[in-house]
Amino acid sequence: MGKPDHCSILVNMKAWRASVLYFADPAQAVLETDGLLVVGPDSAGRQVVQAVGSYSALAPRFPGLDITHLPGRIIAPGFVDMHIHYPQLDVIGSPAEGLLPWLENYTFPHESRFSDAAHSTEVASFFVDELLRHGVTTALAFATSHPASVNALLGEAQRRKLRMIAGKVLQDQNSPDGVRDDTEQGLIDTEALISRWHGVDRLGYAITPRFVPSCSEAQLRGAGQLAARYADVWIQSHVAENKDEVAWVKELYPQARSYLSVYEQFGLLRPRAVYAHCIHIDDEDRALMRSTGTAAAVSPTSNLFLGSGFFDYLGADRTGFLYGLASDVGGGTSFSPFHTMLAAYYVGREGQTKAGVSLSPQQLWWQHTGGAARALGLEGVVGNLVPGCEADFVILNPQATPLLARKTAQAGSLDELLFALIVLGDDRVIEQVVISQAKSASGP
Ligand code: GUN
Ligand code: ZN
Repeated sequence: MGKPDHCSILVNMKAWRASVLYFADPAQAVLETDGLLVVGPDSAGRQVVQAVGSYSALAPRFPGLDITHLPGRIIAPGFVDMHIHYPQLDVIGSPAEGLLPWLENYTFPHESRFSDAAHSTEVASFFVDELLRHGVTTALAFATSHPASVNALLGEAQRRKLRMIAGKVLQDQNSPDGVRDDTEQGLIDTEALISRWHGVDRLGYAITPRFVPSCSEAQLRGAGQLAARYADVWIQSHVAENKDEVAWVKELYPQARSYLSVYEQFGLLRPRAVYAHCIHIDDEDRALMRSTGTAAAVSPTSNLFLGSGFFDYLGADRTGFLYGLASDVGGGTSFSPFHTMLAAYYVGREGQTKAGVSLSPQQLWWQHTGGAARALGLEGVVGNLVPGCEADFVILNPQATPLLARKTAQAGSLDELLFALIVLGDDRVIEQVVISQAKSASGP
């Protein structure tokens, strides 16, 4: 067989000319104002970024390439949402005194409906479309305790070729009928779902103990054993979100040094373990997060809505553990990464002891793209637009509203441009979402 000629390679390649945003390294965003993004199949047939840079430098290297020119638009990595509950789509905006009454009065009743496969599929379909409409192209999601709820979500993600990681919730105690599972059966179902879904197309599985109060010791131990057996499967849970929750865990495990250490005791801290919130933790916990490679899913709209507290960014950076941004819908109030980044900015300002310190727009954007991907163990796979990354990207219209058009026209720097989008942006800015397609290099 002869070497493929240049033209047959180009037939399978495609390029977009616009401003292109990518990360050279963490929090160091690059905007090629007249940029070119070249996408084509890798050896496995996945559509990945082949080249990124200035149009004038790159275009001569690809003569005859099919180029879509989008003047005035910005191409940016698809957003990564590190923690979201698809069965809480209809729970958004349910006010409560705090986490525990919110779970009891709204969340558990809604989640009990997911024993019905048709309901699961209807919600999953809406949910996945809503993620895409907001430019989220990778998510780590909770389903409910019903195995069919996972099949519904991952089935809908698979149909749209989306990168999605999800898991069946383990909760065998302190939960009402309708959402409580059986200790052993929950673990058996988890293993069956790993076999069915993990590594299929762009899908992954996450072992999902809801949180310490809702899982018996036997269930947490079993979850840890599965996590040891399936090292590349994710783990997702919640920790130290709310003071009443922390006090409850103290009653359940009086000997434990901290809430986080309970998860350690059961083998549930490791790379690819993601814990939502991590608010009421101390430096010893932070060091444990770092030494085990465990990541935090920072969920600022949820923390503000439920009055849970403020993630300590200074503490996180002082100790250097992995973290990224998450919507935490339905505790969270929005699917929009712009809203989440803005809330993180507020938290960064209000939650710090050092007055005036907060996050730069480049740091915020990184935390919802490349930083979140890194925290998930998916660096170089998603969350950035450098060669080798899967070609999941958004096409942004910085003139989507009159005020945005006015404000972005005045931006004198990349920071000013990104801040205008973060503060004023929402789904109207997401003009188009392009998802990496698995296509054979020799295919049509
Ligand atoms: N802790 C345990 N379950 C949940 C949940 O569904 N949402 C939030 N925000 N915290 C939790
Ligand atoms: Zn959550």
